Amino acid sequence: MTKILWGGATSASQYEGGYENRGIDTQDCRPYSPKTEDATVATRLLTEEVIQEAKRKDGRHYYPFRKGSMGYEHWEEDIALLGDLGLDVYRLSISWTRIFPKGNDEFPSEAGLQYYDRIFHSLKNQGIKIFLTMNHYAVPLHLVESYGGWLNRQMIDDYLRLAEIIFERWGDLIDYYLPFNEINAGYFSPYNGVGLIKNGTNPYAYQDIFLSLHHQFVASAKTIQMGREKGVKGKFGAMISCFCYYAHTSRPEDNLRLVEDEQINQWFCMDILSRGEYPYYMEPFFKKHRVDLNISEEDTKVLRAYTCDFVSFSYYSSSISSVSESNQQTAGNLVATTKNQYLEASEWGWQIDPIGLKTTALKAYDRYQKPIMIAENGLGAKDTLVDGQVHDPYRIEYFKRHFEQLKEAEAMGVPVLAYLAWGIIDIVSAGSCEMDKRYGVVYVDADNQGKGSYRRIKKDSYYWYQQYIAMQKEGE
Ligand code: BG6
Repeated sequence: MTKILWGGATSASQYEGGYENRGIDTQDCRPYSPKTEDATVATRLLTEEVIQEAKRKDGRHYYPFRKGSMGYEHWEEDIALLGDLGLDVYRLSISWTRIFPKGNDEFPSEAGLQYYDRIFHSLKNQGIKIFLTMNHYAVPLHLVESYGGWLNRQMIDDYLRLAEIIFERWGDLIDYYLPFNEINAGYFSPYNGVGLIKNGTNPYAYQDIFLSLHHQFVASAKTIQMGREKGVKGKFGAMISCFCYYAHTSRPEDNLRLVEDEQINQWFCMDILSRGEYPYYMEPFFKKHRVDLNISEEDTKVLRAYTCDFVSFSYYSSSISSVSESNQQTAGNLVATTKNQYLEASEWGWQIDPIGLKTTALKAYDRYQKPIMIAENGLGAKDTLVDGQVHDPYRIEYFKRHFEQLKEAEAMGVPVLAYLAWGIIDIVSAGSCEMDKRYGVVYVDADNQGKGSYRRIKKDSYYWYQQYIAMQKEGE
């Protein structure tokens, strides 16, 4: 049996802030706007107008990703908190525009590199393994505006320059690499996943989505190639967002829809990155949607040769597949789904389903036979700070129930490398740009408008997780 590493995770755009010391990226253009009554309403479809507004110096909006949780100022204290917590591994991402402010500058920013030098060394001093997401959603805006970002093949080379710097500077420090966060988001949330700008109210073109994704697949494989050729010690993962689909009824049509949802929404990208080729079911899908990728022989070769070492996924809640369009809907991770009468949901409508975590771990291992990693999981909830304390029994309960299921999967023989609690220190929500939707075991005193002291406060769940991790170590 493997020993699960217990960890926590954040992403640069949601955590760091420090906007004055880096270039602008796509996430920096997303303004905060108060949540509407309908939790399933999409708040993240950016158009050219929204971007132009974001670039104005006298802008009328608050842009939360420019401030994050002020990690840029608080990182030292935060890493000490993670060390005291007893984390085995911390997943964080690098901000592309902190290294290359425009994305493709001639030279990297030395100040940016030094910022990460300090962070990585400090994590190592605390005995924490480093899991680096090389790109978590945010794309340098300059690259999107000058040549279309991931739509353009040039992105692969610009991304690889970032990868090269990472390997050369920190190749002996980093334990796990992830070229892209939730790569399937490029399909279900193209702005987040591949930084595509929306053309007014027109839907995204499938051709644009899948061409951008193809460039990410090749960038991912070439990154693995470069890392291996340079002999870095870390292992390479691929990551998808998993939805754990259930058929709404036992109607054969619903069950067939489940298979299609799993294939297209969930596994397709991992099939390529883990097995090394486009799966058979994409051909009819591309034909139907008039997608022509014109894949070169060289791309085919590189995809086949450089597959991931481990399979990682985010899992927050399960979903329902149905051919009916009249089911009551509820929100999920960047996509809405049918409400499940057997499950409770978070305040944001995400259905809480610990068994779904076990199911997903089993299915992922069945399909790929590679070690798995839970790259993200957790409960986004409203917490209240009263007399300097945050009592969050709901989060402890969520962890307990999910950990139990994960351990059951492990006991059945699934090699689980690590569990990473998402947003371990409160961060800005990627879906809704709010600070109110908190996942952390450490509270950050700030509101949705970026007001507050940004003081760090340990929640009850911090002490619970600390004890849990210590107990796992005793049991070794
Ligand atoms: C994942 C993303 O999709 O879900 C994270 O990788 C994100 O960046 C997380 O924060 C939770 O989503 P949200 O919308 O609650 O922040």
